[in-house]
Amino acid sequence: MAQPATEPVSRPTARILGIESSCDETAAAVVEDGRVILSSLVASQVDLHAQFGGVYPEVASRQHIRAIHPIVEQSLQLAHLDLRDVDAIAVTRGPGLPGSLVVGLNVAKGLALGSGLPLLGINHLEAHLYSAWLQDAGLTPLPEPSFPLLALIVSGGHSELVLMTNHLEYRSLGATLDDAAGEAFDKVARLLGLAYPGGPSIQRAAEGGDSRAFSFPRAWLEDGWNFSFSGLKTAVLREVRRMQERKQDLPVENLAASFQAAVVDVLVGKTLKAAEQFKAKEILVAGGVSANRALRQAFQARAGCPVHIPPISLCTDNAAMIAGAGYYRFVAGQRDGLEMDALPNWPISEI
Ligand code: KG4
Ligand code: ZN
Repeated sequence: MAQPATEPVSRPTARILGIESSCDETAAAVVEDGRVILSSLVASQVDLHAQFGGVYPEVASRQHIRAIHPIVEQSLQLAHLDLRDVDAIAVTRGPGLPGSLVVGLNVAKGLALGSGLPLLGINHLEAHLYSAWLQDAGLTPLPEPSFPLLALIVSGGHSELVLMTNHLEYRSLGATLDDAAGEAFDKVARLLGLAYPGGPSIQRAAEGGDSRAFSFPRAWLEDGWNFSFSGLKTAVLREVRRMQERKQDLPVENLAASFQAAVVDVLVGKTLKAAEQFKAKEILVAGGVSANRALRQAFQARAGCPVHIPPISLCTDNAAMIAGAGYYRFVAGQRDGLEMDALPNWPISEI
């Protein structure tokens, strides 16, 4: 449900406690006015899941249960605040793993019930976008992104092009038809024998490789704004099998660099084309894959308009982005009841 934007000058000062537990990071943060990070803590489960080569849902929810209370407590302490000093509690409602989402939701509900604070359920994809508004406390305020914005969300579970016409107003233009960009990085890393999570491993391997060594396919899907990465993944698999059959050593660095270049080419090319077609003033790139150095460099080099990409620590899952989006929903009047349930498949087009 779209809400009217709030003028920056008339904003009340509001501090939001954010809680995130949609996948394999347990996180809590306190953010002021949707922009200033007073604290942001992330307890990553990456080491725990690395042995499985991906996120193991049951292990994830059990670990969230262990980590969540201390992390909420510490985020308040780090901000030198008590629960009484915050104005609302924002929590990820979806999309995400059902067993992980309910841990954060139940803790947020308990805190809201005990304190009487308003409770807000936040869409994780919307929150990734709001990471572009965040900055650390004590810095000179950066200019805010201006609308209309063409946003690319690229994470482990989603690849989506979104036209953001105002605060809280989205039009989904297209999404992946198969694998998400991050998922493709993770799967190809596994093929190449690289560690989970695949994105950072491929990036590291690619730095020593030649991106023109293999000409992997680019799925442009000319008739729309969707993406497809499964053909690219299959092309890498075919190349790997061919070399293994011939008992050749895998040129992992060249394969990683050529794969990464193909992903970056399509993501940047499509986003720039959409930005032009929809007359976007600025581009926003968010989600775990936006941490990728080659992607960041390609956007900055090729875009003809300002490009907002959050600092690396805010690209991957965190709770500051939940509190950031929570602020804009809070001032727009959203309030959720204790009966709010998790929405594991909640598209941005249905907020
Ligand atoms: O946004 P995120 O932390 O979680 C989801 O909401 O899914 O994204 C995680 C994804 C993983 O697939 C991971 O491999 C990818 O982001 N990722 C990267 C990089 N860092 C994380 N992909 C490419 N390059 C990176 N440097
Ligand atoms: Zn995410």
